[in-house]
Amino acid sequence: MMKQFLKLYTTTFLGLFLLTSTPLFSMSNGYGLWLDYTKIKDKVVLEGYRSQLQGIYLEEGGATLKVIGEELTMGLGTLLDTNLKFNALGGDGNMLIVSKYMNLPKNLTEKMEVDDLKKEGYIIKNVDMEGGSHVVITARDDIGLLYGTFHFLRLLQMHKPLKNLEIVESPKVDIRMLNHWDNLDRTIERGYSGFSIWNWQTLPDYIDQRYIDYARANASVGINGTAVTSVNANALILTPHYLEKVKALADVFRPYGLKVYLTARFSAPIEIGGLKTADPLDAKVIQWWKNKADEIYSIIPDFGGFLVKANSEGQPGPQNYGRTHLDGANLLADALAPHNGVVMWRAFVYSEHDPTDRAKQAYNEFVPDDGKYRENVLIQVKNGPIDFQPREPFHPMFGAMPNTPLMMEFQITKEYLGFATHLVYLPKLFEEVLKSDTYRKGKGSLVAKVIDGSLNHKKLTGMAGVSNIGTDFNWTGHPFGQADWYGFGRLAWNPYMDSKDIADEWLRCTFTNDEHFVGPVKKMMMESREAVVNYMDPLGLHHIFDTGHHYGPGPWVDNLSRPEWNPVYYHKADSLGIGFDRTKTGSDALFQYAPEVQKMFTDLETCPEEYLLWFHHVPWDYRLKNGRTLWDGLGIKYQKGVDQVREMIATWEQMKPYVDDLRYKQVTMLLNIQLKEAKWWRDACMLYFQTFSKMDFPKEMEAPEHALEYYRSLQFPYAPGIRPSWN
Ligand code: GCU
Repeated sequence: MMKQFLKLYTTTFLGLFLLTSTPLFSMSNGYGLWLDYTKIKDKVVLEGYRSQLQGIYLEEGGATLKVIGEELTMGLGTLLDTNLKFNALGGDGNMLIVSKYMNLPKNLTEKMEVDDLKKEGYIIKNVDMEGGSHVVITARDDIGLLYGTFHFLRLLQMHKPLKNLEIVESPKVDIRMLNHWDNLDRTIERGYSGFSIWNWQTLPDYIDQRYIDYARANASVGINGTAVTSVNANALILTPHYLEKVKALADVFRPYGLKVYLTARFSAPIEIGGLKTADPLDAKVIQWWKNKADEIYSIIPDFGGFLVKANSEGQPGPQNYGRTHLDGANLLADALAPHNGVVMWRAFVYSEHDPTDRAKQAYNEFVPDDGKYRENVLIQVKNGPIDFQPREPFHPMFGAMPNTPLMMEFQITKEYLGFATHLVYLPKLFEEVLKSDTYRKGKGSLVAKVIDGSLNHKKLTGMAGVSNIGTDFNWTGHPFGQADWYGFGRLAWNPYMDSKDIADEWLRCTFTNDEHFVGPVKKMMMESREAVVNYMDPLGLHHIFDTGHHYGPGPWVDNLSRPEWNPVYYHKADSLGIGFDRTKTGSDALFQYAPEVQKMFTDLETCPEEYLLWFHHVPWDYRLKNGRTLWDGLGIKYQKGVDQVREMIATWEQMKPYVDDLRYKQVTMLLNIQLKEAKWWRDACMLYFQTFSKMDFPKEMEAPEHALEYYRSLQFPYAPGIRPSWN
């Protein structure tokens, strides 16, 4: 199966063949992600596994069981280089037994502790019985067995011993989903890895192998939902013509436990329904959405629900009719409720008509209505109060709405972190947010506890990641972008996981178990997030990107119609200093946090310097904790970011013996771009801020390569990630 589609995709890459000495199809090219099982070379490990796994018992069943059978045949066949037989229970030999709990023979169920096992969860356990010493994978449902199978194969990929296994895993979050910002014309908003993998033109009749491989990859990390269309929605997706296409995708995804969700454009009743209004309190509108939901479920019986961006950045919404987000969310929730569908209503709202600090607007809009949303509404909140910056404090809404389920929205695509050309390991950022303490119910009220529902006993929980997947051969453009998809899935399953452990898993499964590789590259990944903060947005700076495409620095931009779209709005540099005063003397956005958090960020003594300029406007000669002036500190941080990329390059150069040629070269070239761009950021920002500080650069900083005017003059009309204009 894998070989067949590799051939299909390589044909489009003929041009590249001329550049490389070895043809792409004979290389490890990244298409197989972390699931490119290769034969275990370590003889001791291999023999150990072979004697432990002499046959497979797999219970019979439907499509998911079939997928499990295929995965085990392929995975074990390749890893162990052997053809394992599927046997009945009760024979001789050490077996892998894969069966739902209710179908296990009694002498096995007696040995299983299933009390803690939830929906989609699984147990992997050694059981000695007459006839052999077995590994049992069991679960309450088929999908649990599939997740358990992937976990089991991962143990083998990582060369873990198969003795004394006692693994009990259940997802801590119910909805673990990708949000594709894919347009129907196949462009992707903030996508940097090619075009959309959904070929709407050939659907529903042509099922691209990629759809199957996509579902498999998601299942392997526990992702169970996907919103296939952009939040800047097109109502056409809700028409019968497109719903047939969505159904075809849903049919492909179902055996992998992946549910389909759609983005709902609030004005759809007008655009495709012929109504005069989309007012959420209008009887005809209410009926229209009800009928639409009924229609969707008649086509896709397990449809997940709607994701909605309303009254934000020009999108229509209930406020167009003088109604509220609450009215809008509850309207859709009522339509979906009879079918058990959910509404994910996004809190990413801010208005040009609202002069208050943009960071405050979402909280102001939603928190007063806490507890009034229907039970099947989740409010989907971005990790920080602005917009997926390299570093933001956690969003003040987390913990502030105890009576409403809030779900997390992370961005896996790197809109503000160097697109798909920079190596930045995002699970480190995700972990920082999840482990932030909201103090809403005292110390230890972590964001993770809001997300898994444990802080306020929420029944419905979720985490979404804005996808970084496209038609690029290796899915994510940068080979290391795969780690962000992988890591998102792992953290959605268990938001308490350590990002370092996730990097370890991903490296071993994707590249090699050789410690000479895993150790240094893991270190490089773990440091990469701080590097990008240093060379783009140190000390709490934010949103100083060039406008529109967000490629490269643009701290000088001040001419956009909406004030909050201008970088000068965020850094507020002047002759006195720099930073956004969000304390009582400024916008008082800090008021939206719990008193302990307010206090920590307000007091300059206790405010971590990572957030200094997020919350404070401080003078250029302000003394940092290390005794240097703010101005010097800024330059030193920018320089540090550049130096960290140099270190990454030096690390990677040592890795040549452990990586295939293709990926070695790809990462080398990308790291060199990253270095070039890190210097660009340092030079452009420091030269610009110098026009206010009027101070010399610190001695630690290298001299800029060009004058400020040069950086200001750079234009990138075709930078990716925004819709091109075709004229
Ligand atoms: C950012 C991004 C937009 C996107 C928006 C959203 O502002 O730049 O392209 O539409 O987020 O999350 O809705």
